[in-house]
Order: sequence, then structure tokens, then C-alpha cells
Amino acid sequence: MGNLMEKVNEQFNFELESGYIYLAMAAYCDDKGMEGFAHFLTEQAKEEYEHAEKFYDFITEKGERPEYAAIPKPEADYGTFTELFKTALEHEKEVTRRIKGIYKDAIEEGCLDTQQFLNWFIAEQREEEDNFETIVERLERINESWNGLYIFDRELGRR
Ligand code: FEO
Repeated sequence: MGNLMEKVNEQFNFELESGYIYLAMAAYCDDKGMEGFAHFLTEQAKEEYEHAEKFYDFITEKGERPEYAAIPKPEADYGTFTELFKTALEHEKEVTRRIKGIYKDAIEEGCLDTQQFLNWFIAEQREEEDNFETIVERLERINESWNGLYIFDRELGRR
């Protein structure tokens, strides 16, 4: 596997890791009685596994074999719900930073396949960051009040 494909493979694993983190966040919310938040984060985890699948397919299409890495243990505690979603937003920014990094490498290596493949992810990341930013903004306004959280939990449960 060349240098560029190794980075693509690393991102394949980072998508799996992202899913794992969101599942841990969902468990945290569930434990605190926020079933809507838990549902939203579980759906997010499913999206991450779909992202991983796209990377998997790309790697195999390029004639390589995807390599699975060890997934680090996710955090167990995420603080307040605002803090939890801020952590999720920061995580998405990290995903974006990594994907753009691979994109730049693909340009340097003149790999059009990888650039074309990553275009979808560039748009997807813009959307993911925007979604989490909106949630954080709304949680900041709710300011951990139970009334507000209760209503917002029901809303996110409809994802
Ligand atoms: Fe797969 Fe949320 O980025």
C-alpha cells in the first residue's frame, strides 16, 4: 500500500473510531435518561459506519486490502450535554482537517481518483459541522434547563 492509500486506510479506521465514540456518547445520554439524544447519536454512529464502508469500497476498488487497526477506548464521561455536543463538534472538525489533509496529498500526488472520491466527504463534513454547530448553539441557549432539555431531547429523538 502506497503512502496515500495508507492515509486513506487510516481514515477508514478513523470513521470506525468515530462511530465507536458516538455509541459511547449515546450510552452516556441513555444513562442520564436522554433517550432522544441517545437515538440521535446512535443514528450518527450508523452514518459513520456508512462512511467507513465508502472508504472500504474505495480501497478495494483501488486493488488494495483494507487493514483494520485497534480502536481506542472512548471516553466514558462527557460532562454536561452542551459539553458533550461540543466534543462531537470538535471531533467533526478533526475529521474535516484529516480529510482535507488527504485531499491535499492526493493533489500533490496527482491522484484524481482519490480527489474525486473525497469530494463527497468534503461536502458531507460541511454539513456535519453545521448540524453539530446548530445543536451546540441551541444547547447553549437552553443552558441545561430541564424544560429546555426535555423538549430538545424529544426533537433530536425524531432524527
Ligand atoms: Fe464520518 Fe462524522 O464524519
